Amino acid sequence: MAKTAVVVGSSWGDEGKGRAIDELAKNADTVVRFSGGSNAGHCVVVDGEEYKLRLIPSGILYPNKTCVIANGVVFDPQVFFEEIDSLRARGVETADIKVSNRAHVVLPYHKIIDELNEEMRGAGKIGTTKRGIGPAYMDRDDRIGIRVCDLIDREEFAAKLKDLLEYKNLILTKVFNREPLSYEEILREYEGYAERLRPYVCDTIALLNEQIDAGKKILFEGAQATMLDIDFGTYPYVTASHPVSGGVCIGAGIAPQKIGTVIGVVKAYMTRVGEGPFPTEQLNETGEKLRAVGHEFGTVTGRPRRTGWLDACVIRYAAQLSGIDYMTVTKLDVLDSFDEIKLCVAYKLNGQIINEIPASLKILAQVEPVYETFAGWNCDTSKIRRYEDLPANAKKYLERLAEVTGIKLGIISVGPNRDQTIVVEENIF
Ligand code: IMP
Repeated sequence: MAKTAVVVGSSWGDEGKGRAIDELAKNADTVVRFSGGSNAGHCVVVDGEEYKLRLIPSGILYPNKTCVIANGVVFDPQVFFEEIDSLRARGVETADIKVSNRAHVVLPYHKIIDELNEEMRGAGKIGTTKRGIGPAYMDRDDRIGIRVCDLIDREEFAAKLKDLLEYKNLILTKVFNREPLSYEEILREYEGYAERLRPYVCDTIALLNEQIDAGKKILFEGAQATMLDIDFGTYPYVTASHPVSGGVCIGAGIAPQKIGTVIGVVKAYMTRVGEGPFPTEQLNETGEKLRAVGHEFGTVTGRPRRTGWLDACVIRYAAQLSGIDYMTVTKLDVLDSFDEIKLCVAYKLNGQIINEIPASLKILAQVEPVYETFAGWNCDTSKIRRYEDLPANAKKYLERLAEVTGIKLGIISVGPNRDQTIVVEENIF
């Protein structure tokens, strides 16, 4: 059994990663976020109570696990402490959280510029979560970012912020015609965060590598998903980081040989928030029913999600990019009342089957999904706990999905609660 596992989203996010991670986290010593930031919205239900986590790893909902926010995350201290306070208010222990000294800090101007950039894009907007994610990664790549190690160094932070804010205020006033931000206000607010943050900060690269060498079990919690990857996704309608399994190497300082099992989270149908192509989207009653039954509204933004049939071409691509060993199929119960279920098994372009996901969005928008149609099962699966007890039609659908994607079935979830789980393959992690 592998000592490390990575959980990745297989499509455009919101596959139910929070739920899948929660299931796997019970076996882990440490749970790690390695990319993205507070744009994630991991939803976990424990004993009928719903928790929405944006930045802190979902492992926090179990006692005695170390939760790590690694260097690849863009770290928003305001959201971090909001989450800590709300978890504590609900009796969740938050002492064993570690924050990388190398993580880049999200500052107020990142969020404002995210919003203004979106406004400026007009009809071409990306549909970002407006959490400042893209602008924070831009500063990192422009080598002007402020890292956690700078934030907790009073003098360093004051000096860096002063320089940087002069530049950011030029952008705000001259490009966007907005009011400048106050240096003193940001300094005061962030000095407050720095004080509270200090005990959580450490070199998470050293910590994680020591833990791996000591044989501890580490779960890397992917955020966002394959088709939102800055390089592999439907660019430019993507996030600014690497949600694929390779993102663990860069985002947490882990060598590739140390990555064990890779688990892809696949929702039984598909959704997407924000703009960009979505070949199997159902802009019809089927799509509306999927949205209503599946409660498909954004965790972070509340936006209605776009809905459609499961696209095995996308899942195959995710498997290729991340080396997915097992899949966790979530929300199977949402399909319980559908008479007919479709699975896209190939794309046709100008009448020809194609084997890759087109890089050009113009071409991707022209592909025609080739569907296989399955009879629905029309019964309640939410109380089923063993694979063999699933209706035959549900098994047909799942087994065909495993066949066309080349990924083994690992876990199936049939409801939001922890116990609504069917383990197909024991001990994947
Ligand atoms: P950003 O990550 O806020 O820059 O947003 C870029 C794109 O990624 C937008 O289409 C967002 O809707 C999408 N996105 C970012 N995070 C998530 C997520 O956790 N789930 C689903 N979509 C996301």
